[in-house]
Amino acid sequence: MKTIIEPFRIKSVEPIVMTTREQRVGYLREAHYNLFGIPSRRVMIDLLTDSGTGAMSSEQWAGIMRGDESYAGAPSWFRFRDVIKRITGIQNILPTHQGRASERLLVEVMIGSGQGQGKIVPNNAHFDTTRANIEHSGCQTVDLLTPEGQNPAVDAPFKGNMNLTALQELLEDRADDVPFVMVTVTCNSIGGQPVSLENIKSVRELCDQYNKPLILDACRFAENAWFIKMREKGQNNRQVQDIARDLFELCDGATISAKKDGLVNIGGVLLIRNKALFEKASNLLILTEGFVTYGGLAGRDLEAMAIGFEEVLEADYLRYRIRSTEYLGEKLLEAGIAIVRPPGGHAIYIDAADFCPHIPKHQFPGQTLACALYEAGGIRSCEIGSVMMGEHAHMELVRLAIPRRTYTQSHIDYVIEIILNVKANAQKLPGYRIVEEPAALRHFTARFEPMF
Ligand code: F0G
Repeated sequence: MKTIIEPFRIKSVEPIVMTTREQRVGYLREAHYNLFGIPSRRVMIDLLTDSGTGAMSSEQWAGIMRGDESYAGAPSWFRFRDVIKRITGIQNILPTHQGRASERLLVEVMIGSGQGQGKIVPNNAHFDTTRANIEHSGCQTVDLLTPEGQNPAVDAPFKGNMNLTALQELLEDRADDVPFVMVTVTCNSIGGQPVSLENIKSVRELCDQYNKPLILDACRFAENAWFIKMREKGQNNRQVQDIARDLFELCDGATISAKKDGLVNIGGVLLIRNKALFEKASNLLILTEGFVTYGGLAGRDLEAMAIGFEEVLEADYLRYRIRSTEYLGEKLLEAGIAIVRPPGGHAIYIDAADFCPHIPKHQFPGQTLACALYEAGGIRSCEIGSVMMGEHAHMELVRLAIPRRTYTQSHIDYVIEIILNVKANAQKLPGYRIVEEPAALRHFTARFEPMF
């Protein structure tokens, strides 16, 4: 069958407010050409992030009604705990309000707040909040990708893989300085690229050799497990649940933002096998998040997570999820638009420097493209280039992140049409200059001006 349909029908709808180009020109000006400043009611297709922006199922909404709000030991907590136990095989489970709360607790128990000087944590590629939380302790971070992982034009099945040689060298040189090793599945920073099971097994072996804990950033574990099933030798006949279980069996702990593969709008998980560290994390959780059976969430949130984590592992869902992202990527590639290849699990990243070759890096080609897509079609994307990363930007990318179960194929066809229209007149698009910016994280609030 060539057409993979959305494996759901729609029971409740949220209207999209249709806007005209003329209106959007005004909205952009009002927001000082920063898409973070545009109210979401003025966005027609919102591809800013796949985090917490998905649709819940009717079962999840039913779960929301069943949610029990008891302070301690609510049935919703037990349901959530049992699902996570079943999926991961890990017994020590804490709920948190989102991924970065799990990261903060992890850093505090495994490095110590302010205790990170002279230490270093390797990852295939740290996500921003993971990096920021680790570095907040004084510890350094390093990304150890393979050469193909760093080359957006190369089409390879597991570009998220950890560079094993580089990891071994780091452990050989500085074993005492490494509090733990991290692997992020899928690897968001380089385009939602998966890590192979074989690669994680080899990382595990190195960790065993140097006696280091292995922590998984498992935000998109189900998407990664599906890629393993589709692409890795010997995995195709296995259940995706078994592959996901293998991922977790290989690690000593995991941080999870349930806003991705938990299929919920808010929530997170922290898993730590080591009993003493888990107890330490539990005490810290109580200090800032809430009691260990709710972790800063409502009982109904735990209920929705319990159901979401099961639904995300359904084969029909994952087949549709990965295929629909790939569909967007394929159509852009067919039209000669450079994207990070191959298409990732949760997002497509357009190479804005290639899209607008007439705009130099210091005039922010990613900002140009992001503003142009909004003006032409009310599409909100996210610049990941010199605006966000400053001088550290390796590339000028624009991310189109796909919320889960939210948009239909015709929405995506519309996105493709708008991108192609914008491409046809790309040479006329202006660069941008920053007219006002805060001291840090400027992409959220900086003000821009087009350089006509
Ligand atoms: N790790 C990865 C790989 C992520 O992509 C994110 C969030 C986090 C950790 C943090 O989770 O937001 O729940 O605190 N990524 C979002 C994004 C924000 O747009 O890619 P959080």
